[in-house]
This record gives sequence, C-alpha cells and structure tokens, in this order.
Amino acid sequence: MPLSDELHRWIGHAEVRIAGMAVAPGIERIGRVVRVGDGVATVAGLPETRLDELLVFESGSLGLAIDLGEEEIGCILLGDAGGIAAGTNVRGSGEVARAPVGAALLGRVVDAFGMPLDGGMPPPAEELLPVERPAPAIVDRDLVQRPLASGLLVVDAMIPLGRGQRELIIGDRGTGKTAVAVDAMINQRSTEVICIYAAVGQKSSSVNNVIDAMRRFGAIERCLFVIGGPDAAPGLQWLTPYAACTMGEHFLAQGRDVLLVIDDLTKHAAVYRQLSLLLRRPPGREAYPGDVFYIHSRLLERAAKLSGELGGGSLTALPIAETQAGNISAYVPTNLISITDGQIYLDPHLFYEDQKPAVNVGLSVSRVGGKTQAPVLKNLAESLRLEYQQFLELEVFTRFGTMVDERTRKVIEHGRRIRAVLAQPQFAPQSLGQQVALLLAVQGGTLDRLALDQVGSFRNRLADWLAQRCPEALRLGEADEALPDELRARLVETLADLARSLTAEGP
Ligand SMILES: Nc1ncnc2c1ncn2[C@@H]1O[C@H](COP(=O)(O)OP(=O)(O)OP(=O)(O)O)[C@@H](O)[C@H]1O
Ligand SMILES: [Mg+2]
Repeated sequence: MPLSDELHRWIGHAEVRIAGMAVAPGIERIGRVVRVGDGVATVAGLPETRLDELLVFESGSLGLAIDLGEEEIGCILLGDAGGIAAGTNVRGSGEVARAPVGAALLGRVVDAFGMPLDGGMPPPAEELLPVERPAPAIVDRDLVQRPLASGLLVVDAMIPLGRGQRELIIGDRGTGKTAVAVDAMINQRSTEVICIYAAVGQKSSSVNNVIDAMRRFGAIERCLFVIGGPDAAPGLQWLTPYAACTMGEHFLAQGRDVLLVIDDLTKHAAVYRQLSLLLRRPPGREAYPGDVFYIHSRLLERAAKLSGELGGGSLTALPIAETQAGNISAYVPTNLISITDGQIYLDPHLFYEDQKPAVNVGLSVSRVGGKTQAPVLKNLAESLRLEYQQFLELEVFTRFGTMVDERTRKVIEHGRRIRAVLAQPQFAPQSLGQQVALLLAVQGGTLDRLALDQVGSFRNRLADWLAQRCPEALRLGEADEALPDELRARLVETLADLARSLTAEGP
C-alpha cells in the first residue's frame, strides 16, 4: 500500500530530528572521593565543577558542591551515604538541584526532591525548577496591601500580618511557636491561600501532629508539607526550605497567595553549621560559618507581593526561630529579626502562667502589616495596645501588695479582661466578625461586668451566639470600611445579652 504524503512528511521530520540528535562522543570527567564523613564528602579530580552543581556518586546518590577549592571540592550528601567510600567514582551532572512543582503536590507530604513521604506515588510534576532562585527584583514588587488573617486575636489586632510579609515567630522551646503557625494555616480554610509547611529537623511526632491538625481542622487539599526530618541526610534537611519556597513560587507566579511556614530556621542554621564545620570551613561567631546571614536572607527575600503585571500573587513567609532562655540577641535570632518585617515573640513566662498564645506584645512588632489591617478591626484595636501596655506596667505595682486607688483598680481590672480575651485555645481561629465583637465587648465595658473566669466562656460561646442572633456580624469582610452604626448597636446589645446569660448562670 502506498504511503500517504502526510506519512512521508512525518517520517521525514522524524528522520531530521533523529539526525539532529545524533550522539556525539564526549569526554565525561570522573573524579573520586577523597574523604567522606557524616553527611559530607570531599572530591578530587573534577576541576570544572560549578558552585551548587549536583554530583552523582557511583552508588547513584547525589551530592551538592558547596565549596570549591583548587584541588578539592567540598560537597554535601543529599542521600544515603552507603556505598560512598574513599576512592568511589563521582561525576559532575552539569545541573543544579531542582524540585518538582505543580498542583499535584497539594495535599501531599514530600521531601525536598518531591519524593513522597506519605506512602503514595510520586506526585507528577508540571515542571522541575531550581531550588535556589533569585528573589523578585524591586520593580517586580508591589506594596503589601491585603491582610493575612491569622485567626488569632492577639496577632490580628496588635501585630497584623500582610500578604507578602515576612514575620518571624520566635521563642523558647515549647512555647507554642508551631501552634501559632498552625492556627494561621488553619484559618486559611476560609480563604484561597495555599499553605506550605516546611519542616527542618523537626521530630516526626511533631510533624505528624501538624499534618493531623491540618487534616482535622484545615483545608488539607490546599496544603503541602515539605519535610526534612532529623533522620534525613543533613544536606537534604538544609535544602528543604529552599525547595519548599520553589514549590510555593510556582503558585505565586500564577497570581495565587501562598503562606510558607518554615519550622525552624535555628535548626536549619545548626545543620548548616554542622556541614560547614565538617567541610573544615573557618568557624565564625558561635561557630557558625560567615555566610549564615546570607543563607537566610536569600531565602526570605524570595517572599514577596508581586506587581499587577506579574499577576499580583504573594508569598508570605512565617519563619520560626528558637531561642535559648529567651535570648533574642543571640547570633541567628538577631540575624533573622533584622531580615524579617517583624517578629511575634512568645514568652515562656506567659506560657507557664497559662496565657496562650503566649505572645509578648511589648517585644512583638509587625513593620508592614499595620497598613493592611481590616479597617473595622483597626478602629477598635487602635488604643488596645497602649491600654494593655499601661495595664502591664501598673500590674507590676500591685504585685507588691500596694494599695491602689479606685481608678487604678478599674484600669487593672479592665486590663485583666483584655488579657483574658487575648488568650485563645488551639485550633479555633476566629473570624473577623468574632474578633470585632470581642474587641467591642472589651471597649464597651461589657466584659467589665463579668467575673474574670467567665471571659473564657464568653469567648467560646460567642461564635454560636452571633450566628443565631447577629449573623450579619459574621459576614464582615476585610474590605468593609467602618462598622455601620445600626450593626454596632445591635452587636453591643447582643454582647450584653450574652454577658447577662453568663452572669445569670453564675460562676
Ligand atoms: N493556644 C494554646 N492553647 C493551649 N495549648 C497550647 C496553645 N498553644 C500551644 N499549646 C500547647 O503547647 C505545647 C507546645 O506547643 P508547640 O509544640 O507549638 O511549641 P513549640 O514552641 O513549637 O515547641 P518546639 O520548641 O518543641 O518546637 C503543645 O502541647 C501545644 O498543644
Ligand atoms: Mg515547634
């Protein structure tokens, strides 16, 4: 049967293509391992290697060249060190480390290379992008304009976050740092924000708790977990936040809003210190290598609010840092404080006094989010910070058993109620309407009529009470300018009713 013209043309094309792909003989340089130890290897005989190039060991394991010397290359191992010994062959790949990106990753638990850790199949990638990418340039950025509600009253009222901001969550061990970030992620169930949780060296049990909480309370189908566990190769742990950021940037480029939590950068710095010391780089302050500032700034600079021409997406970063005995002026914490746009400081004393979330309002700040705060909340929260700080100062006096006059006593009682309202159970983020109602109850004096230990019940019952009696309050949005007068009056009335029903029940 004669072949059709179409088929002839097609075969012609294919022949051209195959001819074009003719395999040319080339020289592949093979180096060999000189030394190998805990997560690093030194390689000789690959003089053309470039910085950040992937090296492939005979066993198939990968390494990343981070130290180029005249004779030797220092590389960090990204996989199993088994099968790598002095003398093992290594070749350069000419490639940098890349992470898969795409919508198929959502809802999954993966490592920095997109390999599944949840027992499923590897998620199909739309693209492979370098894990280290340049941050958006100045002209590509827009001002941070929209709020990113965390659902925590103390944060949204006093340390508001904006989309595209970088806010450090800092505090001692076990003071609820992860809990603040998880609540912020859970609160995104009512928005379109994509949440990425990058864990560096976190215990598997804690990571599991986070995933479980998101599954139970959050929108898990819009979450991605990128995990570099403590038992993973140190190099892979180190790469985790960069890979997670790359995975987020894919959505950023599509004009979506992304929230990236990095838990935590102190461990990240420690892993980097370990690798650098093993590679015999000169140690600097606290034995960290000289570029520890740069590894974090080049990561966090990638958080941005993009300009309209680039789709207007945003990547908000919530890095976490752990302090020792509340020392926020240690090397890595001060670096991070200076890189980010503010910090939420969690105070161990408050935590042990059962004030949770244990945010120390005096030491916390949000340098850009204030301008984005929802106007209805802003009006009510304006004086709150000052009132609360004044109360904290006055309260110190009363600790000595000093007699205080009636006015001071009132200020203190009012302050105690502010503090009680700022406490909040885990996994129960508040909507804007609830927050407005709570602040209105504080400012209007409704809470002053309640016993202090009833404030918790007031807060816990509020959502249902509003849904039944004043549902329009729950529909308040971030764009609403001011609280309409009649809604305000209705709210005050509804709140007073709730307070009355609680006092009637008694303590
Ligand atoms: N608002 C809250 N209400 C009640 N319990 C809380 C609250 N926030 C945190 N906790 C509890 O405090 C404990 C420590 O919280 P979390 O693990 O978030 O702290 P962390 O600072 O991340 O700890 P680590 O340093 O181990 O990472 C957890 O058991 C958590 O359930
Ligand atoms: Mg934690």
